[in-house]
Amino acid sequence: MKIHSLFAHGTAVLMSTTLFLSSCQKGQEVISQEPVFALAPVIQSPTLPTTPYFYANLVLPNYFNQPNVTNANNTPSTNPITDNGATLGRVLFYDKNLSANRTISCASCHKQGNSFSDPVTFSTGFAGGKTTRNSMSLLNARYYPNGRFFWDERSASAEAQASQPLVNPVEMGMTMPDVISRINSLSYYPALYQKAFGSTTIDSARTVRAIAQFVRSMVSYRTKYDVGRSAFAVNQNPATVNFANFSTQENRGKQIFFTTGACASCHGTETFTSPGAKNNGLDLVYTDNGVGAVTRNAAQNGFFKSPSLRGIEKSAPYMHDGRFATLEQVVEHYNSQVKPHQNLSPELRAPNGQPRRLNLSAADKAALVAFLKTLTDTGIETDVKYSSPF
Ligand code: HEC
Ligand code: HEC
Repeated sequence: MKIHSLFAHGTAVLMSTTLFLSSCQKGQEVISQEPVFALAPVIQSPTLPTTPYFYANLVLPNYFNQPNVTNANNTPSTNPITDNGATLGRVLFYDKNLSANRTISCASCHKQGNSFSDPVTFSTGFAGGKTTRNSMSLLNARYYPNGRFFWDERSASAEAQASQPLVNPVEMGMTMPDVISRINSLSYYPALYQKAFGSTTIDSARTVRAIAQFVRSMVSYRTKYDVGRSAFAVNQNPATVNFANFSTQENRGKQIFFTTGACASCHGTETFTSPGAKNNGLDLVYTDNGVGAVTRNAAQNGFFKSPSLRGIEKSAPYMHDGRFATLEQVVEHYNSQVKPHQNLSPELRAPNGQPRRLNLSAADKAALVAFLKTLTDTGIETDVKYSSPF
């Protein structure tokens, strides 16, 4: 195949890519897809500030500095965020050189303007293949208390998660040794590793630590909700006060979210992250059992992690399989469509054990959607420190 001559180096990568092709696709399709596999030119150096941006000491609102938020922070003492570490993580996150054919980076599926998710049901990997789940928003991922990552919580930490897309045969198609030799072949990395970790050594452990630091630095705290919330004392329950900067409709939606809707019981306050994976009654029988398929515990079938609801307006489509295109559809699910799965979470059951029905009026449903949109974070969406340095 002509494709061979297009690979300048990295025989191992070439071999595995070729094998993948021949085992998964018919010869004819391979030929028609050749341009996709052409190894794109080496991406040029990133442009970075002389003094790194602030990632470590974000000035967070005072209501982030209370136990329900700080106890949920999954940053390990072995990998605190540093400005130089997250800077290296940012470069790695945006570097297309890290995929087999140099065509995609983490950011291809985790776009800054979409709360670091992908506005399609399933994302496209380096060779045109599709992911089997919807790409997750990364906002406030650091505030998930058990620190587990992915919809099915299969990764024990952000560090363990970070290598998975790189070696995933659909997503980036590499092996970790290939990734490390790629990074070693790029002139801009030794200085970045030096600044981040004190020497120019480039290895897997440092690489995943830097990526995890960048992911954990993606904190959303600059929303319309935050402007309203800031006017009240830390210990004030946001459910019980009207925010001065909210419309009547947004305040009504806030009230539903925190009271009758019981949304906050699973989607938290302030960081709007979840306390853990739950079954929210999407199906009577799930084709994808999420956590249950990983743990082989049937009592966890249909359990999924929910990303933070901050930035939710921009991270459509919704749920692990991207089944809902709009927030109106999500709200209708919780209003009238929750299924009586045996593992359905108690918060979504009526006293008789059946799925609860909220019986929201059209105006209330619209109000709940309006409230969810107050969680949009234009700050992080446009902040240069989270943008591509290339
Ligand atoms: C081809 C698309 C694609 C690429 C490339 C990709 N991701 Fe993802 N990402 C996804 C999908 C899809 C999921 C959900 C997968 C699942 O749960 O099984 C996900 C989930 C995640 C999560 C879990 C979030 C959470 O709250 O649990 C993190 C973190 C993440 N990706 C970071 C990265 C990083 C870092 C890279 C680059 C090294 C990357 N992704 C590359 C599609 C992609
Ligand atoms: C029992 C816990 C629970 C309750 C109560 C709950 N949710 Fe959820 N929510 C979840 C889980 C779990 C998911 C992810 C489910 C999946 O993808 O399979 C989710 C997903 C979502 C998503 C999509 C997230 C994304 O990134 O795709 C939105 C939006 C949402 N919920 C809003 C709400 C609203 C609004 C309410 C209140 C009416 C609510 N939730 C009540 C557990 C809950």
